[in-house]
Amino acid sequence: MESTTKNLIEIVKAETSKINQVDFDNLAFGNVFSDHMLVCDYKNGVWETPKIIPYGPLSLEPSAKIFHYGQSIFEGMKAYKDANGTTWLFRPLDNHKRLNISAKRMAIPEFPEAFFMEGLKTLLRLDREWIPRTTGSSMYIRPFIFASGKGFHASPADEYKFIIALAPSGAYFSGKVKVLIEQHYSRSANGGVGYAKTGGNYAGQFHPTQLAVEKGYNQVIWTDDNTHEYIEEAGAMNIFVRIGDTLITGPTSDRILDGITRKSVLEIAKDEGIPTEVRKITVTEVVEAAKNKTLKEMFGTGTAAVISPIATFGHKDRDYDLPELTDSYASLFKKRITDIQYNRAEDKFGWRFKI
Ligand code: PLP
Ligand code: COI
Repeated sequence: MESTTKNLIEIVKAETSKINQVDFDNLAFGNVFSDHMLVCDYKNGVWETPKIIPYGPLSLEPSAKIFHYGQSIFEGMKAYKDANGTTWLFRPLDNHKRLNISAKRMAIPEFPEAFFMEGLKTLLRLDREWIPRTTGSSMYIRPFIFASGKGFHASPADEYKFIIALAPSGAYFSGKVKVLIEQHYSRSANGGVGYAKTGGNYAGQFHPTQLAVEKGYNQVIWTDDNTHEYIEEAGAMNIFVRIGDTLITGPTSDRILDGITRKSVLEIAKDEGIPTEVRKITVTEVVEAAKNKTLKEMFGTGTAAVISPIATFGHKDRDYDLPELTDSYASLFKKRITDIQYNRAEDKFGWRFKI
């Protein structure tokens, strides 16, 4: 294996590349991985210098605290290639900031910004040929931290691993998105960890989501744990509704992930002069608006999901279909955001970041 050091990050190159085994025209979401990954260990109270090594399995103690107490956090980002082959990230410093918000809540040591940014740049430059050029595809980036320190004592670990893995990916959803408004289970609670991107928030959704999938839905729309009367967010996206011409989304709180796509949509809506309200949305008003046809759109926002229009929502054994609009807000936001991400339009907000 060839080994070089660049910008302090040591690189151990893979002996052979797997790139020729990948069908870039038919990429699913997040199930093929590039040749390399970045690994950084936290030991003796410090994050050591990151290393890039061939992507592959890890060796861990069975008593590593991640397995027992779920101390883990992650981020979701994408890299985009423009028509000239230049690579771009979208608001990466916001992901770094959120990683450390999650870290604090899960008693994980905060990760240095310089390692995060330098690690992303070095890894993406090394595996640049893996970044898809096909429309609708991008390189999904998964930075994550987990407790690798050992011991059954239920307390924070003394060792952690930060890893960045890269997955060239296509769309998160295939086909029409159908969601179920949850009336029994809860994703998060006041004072809990809902705002953190931590593994347990997703594991806790799997069973209720399986029940919804059995009924023909793709995702659950979570409601507040106390009354199930307020729309919170979906499994992997924030939620917007359009009633009449007003765009509405719920406020973030300690129960909801502060989505980067969500806040970008709010800024674009302001720029477009779209009347917008950030306030609690009741299930009753959404159902009423669907019945009286003033509910024009419902869509989810997220890095993986981008802007995903919802075709149907279910509530208490009844399905409500949304109209198919040719001039939807969802398509406007999707165009404006992806045009910035893929460097097809001016970026007046300063969101694009060149690799
Ligand atoms: N809500 C949840 C629970 C998520 O997992 C995600 C995905 O990251 C989002 C919302 C959207 O956040 P972002 O737009 O930052 O990707
Ligand atoms: C993302 O959109 O990046 C997410 O983290 C959602 C994930 C559950 C696929």
